[in-house]
Amino acid sequence: MKTVLYVAPTASAPALCLRPWRAEDAAALVTAHRDPLMRRWLITSLAGESDARQWIDDQNRGWDDGVRFSFAIVERGRPVGHIAVKGGVDPAGASAEVGYWTSAETRGRGIASRALECVSRWALGSQDVMPLARLDLLHAVDNHASCRVAEKCRYVLSSVLPAQPPVFPSEGHLHVRMNSTQKART
Ligand SMILES: CC(C)(COP(=O)(O)OP(=O)(O)OC[C@H]1O[C@@H](n2cnc3c(N)ncnc32)[C@H](O)[C@@H]1OP(=O)(O)O)[C@@H](O)C(=O)NCCC(=O)NCCS
Repeated sequence: MKTVLYVAPTASAPALCLRPWRAEDAAALVTAHRDPLMRRWLITSLAGESDARQWIDDQNRGWDDGVRFSFAIVERGRPVGHIAVKGGVDPAGASAEVGYWTSAETRGRGIASRALECVSRWALGSQDVMPLARLDLLHAVDNHASCRVAEKCRYVLSSVLPAQPPVFPSEGHLHVRMNSTQKART
């Protein structure tokens, strides 16, 4: 099962389409990954198109196996970001982790927040491939933009995680959004 989600336009921003990554997106992925902030905050770095194609294959396998829901965020037909719900982190299977990025030239226009709100509602509410009670969102404490996106989408700060060098050289924030929070508000 693969899913396509739509985010309605606002008074100042066009609609977004969240769809699975495609092989023809490889060049856009490589361009986005050249940004220093991506290299600073993401574990995965895609240096060339063969890395990008491999990564796209991995995302598609995640859909096929029902363990990872990975979307290109598309604005006016162009991929401008990525958002994923990653299962397999919780042995009980009740929670998954969300991750995201937007391309450098599109930041600060609400794209990450709108995409995260849409995917969170879908993941906690309307999909039944991976029934979830909770979504976790982790970021480095000094990644203030990511912290703000989490807050805007009602991911509550749950704990401060210790640094785990070399992969996580600084402390982290764990934010959580529960299924019940969403139901109470709809
Ligand atoms: C984090 C990221 C996805 C945000 O994407 P975006 O499309 O700019 O997000 P939005 O426009 O929806 O919201 C960004 C918010 O952060 C705020 N922000 C941006 N830089 C900030 C900073 N240095 N300090 C505090 N707030 C900041 C913006 O003002 C905005 O909040 P507002 O709407 O209240 O003004 C983007 O910066 C990114 O891709 N960074 C690199 C990869 C990354 O860090 N991914 C997350 C890993 S946990």
